[in-house]
Amino acid sequence: MKIKFRIRRCNPAGKEACEPYAQVFNVEAEEGMTVLEALLKIADEQDPALSFRKSCRSAICGSCAMNINGTSKLACNTQVIPEYKKMGDMLIEPLSNHRPLKDLIVDFTPFWRKIDKVTPYLTPTKKTSEAVVTAEAEAAIDRSQRCIMCGCCNGMCNSLEIDERFIAPAALAKAWRFVGDVREGHSAKRLERLSEEHGMWDCVRCVHCTQHCPKDVMPLKQIEMLRSRAMKAGVLDNPGARHVEAMADSVKKIGRLDEAAMTFKTLGFLRSLGMIPFGLKMERHGKMPLPHIFPQIEKIEEVKKIYEEFERALKKKKG
Ligand code: SF4
Ligand code: SF4
Ligand code: FES
Repeated sequence: MKIKFRIRRCNPAGKEACEPYAQVFNVEAEEGMTVLEALLKIADEQDPALSFRKSCRSAICGSCAMNINGTSKLACNTQVIPEYKKMGDMLIEPLSNHRPLKDLIVDFTPFWRKIDKVTPYLTPTKKTSEAVVTAEAEAAIDRSQRCIMCGCCNGMCNSLEIDERFIAPAALAKAWRFVGDVREGHSAKRLERLSEEHGMWDCVRCVHCTQHCPKDVMPLKQIEMLRSRAMKAGVLDNPGARHVEAMADSVKKIGRLDEAAMTFKTLGFLRSLGMIPFGLKMERHGKMPLPHIFPQIEKIEEVKKIYEEFERALKKKKG
């Protein structure tokens, strides 16, 4: 089956900016051929200068992440014919949210800096180094250990797209690997650092990282565990934790989210004033029902019962 590959390329060749252009290659695709094999065939038979990263060809090394028909994928783990039949196209581009260096090769320096920032190794104390890793303790960090550092999650991250300083899902999944380890001795300090600006609370929970991770690491799940652990550890003096408390309060009191009151509780009075134009815009689009127009829901006592039941269960658990 002859398939047309459209590849977004760029060649800095001494220039500062790498100007992108599209090039078409026709490839005779066989059953079972992967996108990586197709790229190797193109490099072999049509253009030896076509540049891309690869190594293991077995979805282990994480080198060959790129955009295939608009989403981050491993080229060695994506078969050409099923992909083409599903999407009706074969558009290959460099990984999003990463600066292209040449053709499909992108700059991974920011990725590694973010990983570095979360101190990607255990820092036990004398006491915690003797902790026994039970099967249950191992299960808590198991998924985060599957990461192959491919960057597919960061490539699809909405928060990273608007804020390049956002720590991003790959580093956050790695952070849980150590915060969640019973042998770690500095979890509280780590959680405080992760709660700073551009940290774990800046994730908007779009789920893209979990959806597109080829190793099922579920980065969003690891982020939720970090957040929950931070709140339990009393790391509450930051907008993210205040927002969670404001949400819970609002639902308990009126059975729905009171966005205006939540903004004041999350950001404080002065910073909230700057949000008024944005709030009015949200209101115009029906995204911020005003509490005096939509008061407390009917049967609020049913909501309160859920909270009471939850608080009872929590007390029982704590003994
Ligand atoms: S869920 Fe959060 S971390 Fe994951 S891709 Fe979306 S914004 Fe990024
Ligand atoms: S979490 Fe998944 S998508 Fe992200 S770098 Fe690790 S393996 Fe790749
Ligand atoms: S070549 Fe190693 S993950 Fe694709």
